[in-house]
Amino acid sequence: MKAAARQALQALQAHKADLEGRHLRDLFAEDPQRFERFSVSLGDFTLDFSKNRIVAETLPLLIALAEGAELEALRDRMFGGDAINITEKRAVLHTALRAPAGQSIAVDGENIMPGVHDVLAAMERFVDGVRDGSVTSSAGKRFTDVVNIGIGGSDLGPAMAAMALSPYRGDGPRVHFVSNVDGAHIADTLATLDPATTLILVASKTFTTSETMTNAGTARAWIAGKLGEDAVGAHFAAISTNLAKVGEFGIAMDRVFGFWDWVGGRYSVWAAIGLPVALAIGFGNFRKFLAGAHLMDEHFRTAPLAENIPVLMGLLGVWYRNVWDFRSYAILPYDQRLARFAAHLQQLDMESNGKRVTRDGDSVDYETGPVIWGEPGTNGQHAFFQLIHQGTDVIPADFLLAARPHEQLGDHHAKLAANCLAQTEALAFGKTEAEVRDELAGSGMSDADIDALAPHKVFPGNRPTNTLIYRQLDPETLGMLIALYEHKVFVQGAVWDINSFDQWGVELGKALASRLLPVVRDGGSTEKLDASTRGLVERFRALAD
Ligand code: F6P
Repeated sequence: MKAAARQALQALQAHKADLEGRHLRDLFAEDPQRFERFSVSLGDFTLDFSKNRIVAETLPLLIALAEGAELEALRDRMFGGDAINITEKRAVLHTALRAPAGQSIAVDGENIMPGVHDVLAAMERFVDGVRDGSVTSSAGKRFTDVVNIGIGGSDLGPAMAAMALSPYRGDGPRVHFVSNVDGAHIADTLATLDPATTLILVASKTFTTSETMTNAGTARAWIAGKLGEDAVGAHFAAISTNLAKVGEFGIAMDRVFGFWDWVGGRYSVWAAIGLPVALAIGFGNFRKFLAGAHLMDEHFRTAPLAENIPVLMGLLGVWYRNVWDFRSYAILPYDQRLARFAAHLQQLDMESNGKRVTRDGDSVDYETGPVIWGEPGTNGQHAFFQLIHQGTDVIPADFLLAARPHEQLGDHHAKLAANCLAQTEALAFGKTEAEVRDELAGSGMSDADIDALAPHKVFPGNRPTNTLIYRQLDPETLGMLIALYEHKVFVQGAVWDINSFDQWGVELGKALASRLLPVVRDGGSTEKLDASTRGLVERFRALAD
């Protein structure tokens, strides 16, 4: 961490002592303007961060942390195309994928924007063709189903977005996602489909990922087995940066949508990896999705730090992680169609900021990325909210809520919204022992029973939350939401002085799995394995027979 950021963090640590005895209940009582003071809007999109453990003096200290980390300089280097992914010597330009065509952004002296928009135009032709029935199957039939085969960033973002935007499907194809190398995943998916009307997309940045190549081979055999080898070309398309490998697999070049090494896997839904989303919602809606992300990019790039939504959310996250020592962070959308949002953010955040050395390779002596998890409300309320309300860990959380539903179904949406608001209220303000006792006495309970029960019914409160509220979960809003979290992760990586854009931590497991495959699959020797792995392989073999 830069020396100035370290100093700012120390100032925040001292400031925490001022806040420790003060409950959110007191802070709200003292300042009736808390919502106005601690909320920011961007169009219809509002972040309410008033239910956090902060007071007016906290903000300048948090901003000093961003300044000490030289956040704005790093941000400008990212937008400008500098190779800020230092371990892979690459630029980080997912923001260019949603920038307007007229803009000029150079990588190694070359303007990348014409190439970005050429691929978008090729995607548009293909999407329009599949959706209007002019791009057909081998038998000249309209495609009714699309199966996207990919994993990690080549699956999570598009699968989440396709689900989130399902009301925009119109008469487009149904889109399915297969990621796991567990054969159950592809078997269960293909079992429901007719090969004669199914289009397979093989999505892999590297086109070497074992899971994806295995599933792609199985899907190829399924098409060839049911429709004949000649049908394969019409039923496959690929999305990759590795055109040579795509060619080897046998997919024709006019069915390949490329992207670039300056797009990280977990940031690639905006590139051709978004093709299944575009097929699902139509290209006009996909362009709105990109436009929403661009709006958030411009906000992140130009808004003052104290009014900058991703900056504020990133700094609050650091405040809880490094000063309060809160280790996990919950994402709680009150929106069933965001059921995969937390899963996408898990990769985005934990693959980016799950790092233990600085950009210079020194071990950090402070905490970095928290554990990210979550489920939609109201389901979560009936599962893990007990721990968030009364457990021994404090878990800061983001609540997400649309003002308008897509369905007009009685008072469903009013109930959903009431629950969302009620939860943040309960978490912030809790319920004191005196309140519990009064309530129980009012119900006619004996003093002895009240003594026994009251401690169990106390809610400590003072549990921090953000609420993000927006008009409707439409393509533009989803684009804003995803870009917001991308930039939040960037802000935290800048403060922690780590490289948020590599993922070396996934490599060892991959290498060991390749080494173990011949042992597990072909009966290879177990001699060189450690005692535990050897014992497990032998047990696996005995049980498999
Ligand atoms: O395993 C990690 C990872 O490299 C991710 O970063 C990436 O999104 C995923 O694998 C899939 O990679 P690819 O798109 O190259 O198949």
